[in-house]
Amino acid sequence: MSRRILVTSALPNANGPIHLGHVLEQIQTDIWVRFQRMRGNQATYVCADDTHGTATMIKAEQEGISAEALVENMRQLHLADSEGFLITHDNYYSTHSPENQHYSELIYNRLKEADLIFTEKVEQLYDPEKGLFLADRFVVGTCPRCKAPDQYGDNCEACGATYNANELIEPKSIFSGATPEMRDSEHYFFDLAKYTEFLKTWTRSDAVQDEIANKLAEWLDDGLRAWDISRDAPYFGFTIPGTTDKYFYVWMDAPIGYMASFQNLCDSRGDLNFDDYWAPDSSAEVHHFIGKDIVNFHALFWPAVLDGANFRTPTKVHTHGFLTVDGTKMSKSRGTFILAKTYLEHLNPEYLRYYFAAKLNGSADDLDLNLEDFAARVNSDLVGKVINIASRTAGFLVKQFDGVLATEIHDPELMSQFHAQVEPIAKLFEDGDTAKAMREITALADAANQYIAKHEPWNMAKDPEQRDAVQLVCSQGVNMFRCLAIFLKPTLPATAGKAEEFLNVGPLTWDDASTPLLGHSINKFKPMLQRIEGAQIQKMVEASKEPEAPTTKGSAKPEKQTKEQSKNAAEESNEITIDDFMKVQLKVARIIDAQPVEGADKLLQLTLDVGDHQRQVFSGIKAAYEAADLVGRLTVVVANLAPRKMRFGVSEGMVLAAGPGGSDIFLLSPDSGAEPGMDVK
Ligand code: 2FM
Ligand code: ZN
Repeated sequence: MSRRILVTSALPNANGPIHLGHVLEQIQTDIWVRFQRMRGNQATYVCADDTHGTATMIKAEQEGISAEALVENMRQLHLADSEGFLITHDNYYSTHSPENQHYSELIYNRLKEADLIFTEKVEQLYDPEKGLFLADRFVVGTCPRCKAPDQYGDNCEACGATYNANELIEPKSIFSGATPEMRDSEHYFFDLAKYTEFLKTWTRSDAVQDEIANKLAEWLDDGLRAWDISRDAPYFGFTIPGTTDKYFYVWMDAPIGYMASFQNLCDSRGDLNFDDYWAPDSSAEVHHFIGKDIVNFHALFWPAVLDGANFRTPTKVHTHGFLTVDGTKMSKSRGTFILAKTYLEHLNPEYLRYYFAAKLNGSADDLDLNLEDFAARVNSDLVGKVINIASRTAGFLVKQFDGVLATEIHDPELMSQFHAQVEPIAKLFEDGDTAKAMREITALADAANQYIAKHEPWNMAKDPEQRDAVQLVCSQGVNMFRCLAIFLKPTLPATAGKAEEFLNVGPLTWDDASTPLLGHSINKFKPMLQRIEGAQIQKMVEASKEPEAPTTKGSAKPEKQTKEQSKNAAEESNEITIDDFMKVQLKVARIIDAQPVEGADKLLQLTLDVGDHQRQVFSGIKAAYEAADLVGRLTVVVANLAPRKMRFGVSEGMVLAAGPGGSDIFLLSPDSGAEPGMDVK
């Protein structure tokens, strides 16, 4: 029976753009959701912007717009970024919505009826100029312990001391600079202490990872305290029923935003019913994906609030660690605080989807985006291994067999290694260990490439007696590629879409990996994923750097010749600079097909295997070689030459040869030890 699963990512704050930390979580969630859908489960993915609180109110004031306009603008930006990363939210809503107000009030009223709400006077710092109660982080002053100036009201960044804001020496409001005063106000509390025993059981019920349950046990063993769920006016949020100047604390209505987004979706879709998912006896599942900084809200407060208000509790809270870039916290000065939008302006989203998948293992350990490793893994695993399988085999099938696959499997034992992984890899996805799943997938890709290298279809193709064998070997290659495309589809949905087009099939499901395609006709292979170039990453890092201080900008004359100047100097003579030369990418390629070109005396049409894909190049070497003699030989190709439309077709590169010309033109020796795709240095 198919499962009904509601899935969420944490709601991004509406007071700023999303960065790669948010993207990590959304990619993790989306891979899990797409995997569930491929398995035939009904997975519904909702998210929203987390809009309420003082910060939104102040930011709107600074920008001179209403808070409503601010949060709606931000929601549109966040949604566009998520879509850029191919995140398939079924609904991306807002916590500032009528549905959220409805459920926040309903839940509050039910908690109150259940005697889980009480009020108490709280003393808090107050900004008399701004007329605002101040959260600790809105107060700065001198650390009472080490006397460091300009420290926030909750802890000292210099010595690590923690304290209350009223202990700061010479405290000031960050909004007005006024000296805050202590004031009393009545706050509303949720009686979380009553839930200590319930949560001890719940956190050990497989609802959170073991490491998280252990961490939570430290708090639970100390006993829980009541949770302050109110804030005083002025505040951007919902007023607490029965009051005019008390608001729900943003963290009270934020998780309720999951329900509100889902309700909003149910209202537009006939096949989803709110109660089916949220009633206490629901047989549907609810999965939250979050970062470890907000575990207490999701694994203590939230299940207690839900249970107190007679709703079901989450099936599972999946917690991930923090994202670091190049081994350290994301930093604006190093250009590693990378916004989602900046990434998308420079790089393909699937690169990052793959890299994160290759690192996420279901634990809450921190995860490092090492930019060098990122490029190397994507280029080697995806372009060099997986896509290569199709590009090395498809051409022969299309050219010599009209794209029709063989009707039997050539090496059933090897194929069964792929089929045997269908369930184990599914289990890894289910458990969130995509790192291991990606390792298993690349191991299969290695086996497939070894098989192709062993059989050398490009040599077999020269021998008419081996015609059937060429079809068998290449068909097996295509079938192995198809399995890998299925296993990678949750991670690389766009590439999988291109693979479906190439394979000439409808949307691939997980089960499809268990049965091969036989006697089926496929389409011409087209490149599916380009290699990452280091320069793209460099540009993204540069674009992420905070602008330099004005003192260093545009002032002194450059001492050395600038790049621009040396470029101009070179243009005047016939020389090229080393920079120009470095732009030329030379690669080893194997000629896998060579055909004379009708109507052209000097040209041969060459099909080249460049390691990760095939190319067609027209080359003026007909006088020197018999076309058939070239097949199997190695050559050097200018790999990054823009495709050129010639009279006979498009030429995708240029083959390098040496010699006086005419019939004396020399290509690389076939036994030079080089392999297609190698860089020529
Ligand atoms: O930590 C945050 O960014 C919060 N906006 C997450 C909220 S998740 C849920 F509870 F709404
Ligand atoms: Zn200090």
